[in-house]
Amino acid sequence: MPRHFLSTADWRRDELESLIEEALAFKRGARRDQPLAGRSVALVFFNPSLRTRASMQLAVHQLGGYPIVLEPGSTSWTIEYAEGAVMDRDRTEHVAEFVGVLGRYCSAIGVRVFPALEDWRKERTDPIISAFAHHSPVPIINLESAMHHPCQAMADMMTVREKLGEGKRRVSLIWVWHPKPLPMAVPNSFALAAAQLGHELTIAHPPGYELDDELVRELNMLAHDHGTRVRISNEIEEAFDGAQVIYAKSWGSRMFYGMAEAEREMRAAYRQWIVDAERMRRTDEAILMHCLPVRRNVEVTDEVLDSPASVVIDEAENRLHVQKAIIARVCGGETR
Ligand code: CP
Repeated sequence: MPRHFLSTADWRRDELESLIEEALAFKRGARRDQPLAGRSVALVFFNPSLRTRASMQLAVHQLGGYPIVLEPGSTSWTIEYAEGAVMDRDRTEHVAEFVGVLGRYCSAIGVRVFPALEDWRKERTDPIISAFAHHSPVPIINLESAMHHPCQAMADMMTVREKLGEGKRRVSLIWVWHPKPLPMAVPNSFALAAAQLGHELTIAHPPGYELDDELVRELNMLAHDHGTRVRISNEIEEAFDGAQVIYAKSWGSRMFYGMAEAEREMRAAYRQWIVDAERMRRTDEAILMHCLPVRRNVEVTDEVLDSPASVVIDEAENRLHVQKAIIARVCGGETR
């Protein structure tokens, strides 16, 4: 069975830490090997991307491999993923054949597939990337699904380690206003990885923007195991107090999932949820993180994004290094 990289939750803390060590070694040039020489990795994008697409293509190239980028419905056939489907409608190829064929050409398959933002109960199970993983003879790397963005979270954890050193940090995940309801993969994965690595986690969001209940239970269990606890607050200001990391991110409300218009009114009341310099002054000289793309002066002010506190470009660069470590690990087939 291939070892997939679908969520950091499937990987032990020591494995995540060693991936970060390897990523740091790639970054400082101490590791230059090319374990993918003569091999290929397929990168399947159902959705747009700047960072993920560019950094994955480059990561495969720098590891000596050849990246094959496919866009179902555009540069490749539309994909059916339901088991037992009678394929008499618009979808051309079943995921079973799609990954079966790619598995003969490639050593791993990266997949980006956002949720349709229609049916929370269905989408929270990540049905599409799960179908890829179920059928694939080679490792599947999650490049952002409905629930998880583990490559982003690993780059985030690498950045915290790089900027603030080893050890437990006070990390605040802060919901910020955005004109549209966004998926929850980034906040889910950031919170999960931070809890797995033993950081002290605060999550602040307006009422109605709670993260997935099961995920929050998991966060609490992980925090308990590390002798700490997760603080969840509906007050933005207190999440800044004494924080060493401010992670700004917007996400949609589960109460209005699939009803963007209905959510708009509730969301409008929280326009003041923004990261600004005054709030940053409440922190313990925190770094400002964001997965990007960021809406300037809507999610985070220019003053903060252009200040030395902002590490968003380093965070994006670290996608490249940490993905090299992840690809090398899953393609090597060994768990160290
Ligand atoms: N952070 C991130 O995943 O960026 P892209 O959507 O541009 O890939």
